[in-house]
Amino acid sequence: MDISMKKITASEAVKKVKSGMMIVTGLGCAEGRDFLSQLHTVADEVSGVTVTNCLPMSDPDFMKKEYKNSFYVDGWFYSPALRKAHQNGNISFIPNHLHLAGIKRLAHVHTDIYVGACSMPDKHGYVSLSLSNTYEKRVIEEADLVILEINPNMPYTYGDLELHLDEVDYVIESNYLPAELPDTEPNEKDIAIGNNIASQINDGDCLQLGIGGIPNAVASALKNKKDLGVHTEMLTTGLMKLAKLGVVTNKRKTLHKGKMVCTFAMGSRELYEFIDHNPGVAILDGAYTNDPHVIGLNDNMVSINTTLEIDLTGQCCSESIGSTQFSGTGGQVDTAVGAQNAKNGRSFIALYSTAMVKNPVTGEREEISKIVPQLKQGAVVTLSRNDVNYVVTEYGMVNLKGTNVRERVKLLISIAHPKFRAELLEQAKALGIV
Ligand code: COA
Repeated sequence: MDISMKKITASEAVKKVKSGMMIVTGLGCAEGRDFLSQLHTVADEVSGVTVTNCLPMSDPDFMKKEYKNSFYVDGWFYSPALRKAHQNGNISFIPNHLHLAGIKRLAHVHTDIYVGACSMPDKHGYVSLSLSNTYEKRVIEEADLVILEINPNMPYTYGDLELHLDEVDYVIESNYLPAELPDTEPNEKDIAIGNNIASQINDGDCLQLGIGGIPNAVASALKNKKDLGVHTEMLTTGLMKLAKLGVVTNKRKTLHKGKMVCTFAMGSRELYEFIDHNPGVAILDGAYTNDPHVIGLNDNMVSINTTLEIDLTGQCCSESIGSTQFSGTGGQVDTAVGAQNAKNGRSFIALYSTAMVKNPVTGEREEISKIVPQLKQGAVVTLSRNDVNYVVTEYGMVNLKGTNVRERVKLLISIAHPKFRAELLEQAKALGIV
């Protein structure tokens, strides 16, 4: 197919932007990086333009303070770039469960332009949206103008994210490498947490691993399991390694047997090579993949996520530090609830018992307990205490399912760092919860 008529440069593409427009870009590595890197060049000609993004991996100039009168940013999930830019005052978080992010947004506001990354076209004229189908294809269907960055470095993935170039208005020829996440070796705490969780994982279980250092590290504790399956929001390097080792076979899945199912992928270069033209990986619409009902159709479903802070009744704050937005709800609730909907399903929240945080007065780092009597003022409850199941630290694992508050206090204190346990009990008594 001849696409020469659709070709445009990024500098030409940003000239299509008019005041008041709503632009949506792809999640993570599926963002339209070349377009966004040029967007500030039209700052003097536009005002009130909103860019909606999710876990952006690049840090384009239009998010800088000097352009705040021209652009707003609405974010479904904060990344380091959005956390930094939030201070400018023109950036706001969109509360969401990831499986409904696109649907609810489309019901609220019209999309003028979708811009995102994709693979090179195949011989039939189809491109793959490559590294995410969380909401992208739905938004493309609604957008007035669709601009895709075709890029030989983006893997051609399968699922329901293939799109014919007839559906695309303009293409930008791009050549950047998709962003990668570091693949760090598990430390002692990760190994202890991983072993605790591994003791509850059976051969043939179906896994979801969440975003963050711990879930990725847990994968390495599962190397001796057999015939695991994958139905996850984010396909990670850890899951890819288990597939390469033959631990993940997807043979015993009760939904999409034989395939790893996800809604986006983010990790190492090796992960991107693994999913390229791989019919064993299906990247399906986030509204489907992350629907708690659909997740629950996988027998033996296990979800493993992490949190920033948990109170003694089981409320998990996984997206803010006090009232400061850190990340997002993402699929934490989708997957924790979905796993518990499944026959023999289990959900794990895994966290280190402590964190090293900056004291706001002295500026020195100090060790604090992540298990606390009460969440910090303004903290967002990501996973409700009604939905929490197993909680795991390097000191052990407890199951809160069906327990009362008094039992929870005791169970959670038993997996807190020993040096904080006595103080936690005193505080719980003072609150009248034990
Ligand atoms: N109080 C204050 N600060 C805390 C803290 C606490 N209780 N716990 C952690 N922190 C700080 C850490 O010190 C670290 O700060 P630094 O960057 O200055 O070192 C920062 O918060 C991040 O902590 P870390 O544990 O390294 O985070 P992570 O990268 O492993 O991500 C979550 C953890 C919870 C933020 C991430 O998993 C998330 O966003 N989850 C919600 C979405 C989700 O679970 N989706 C699931 C489907 S993919």
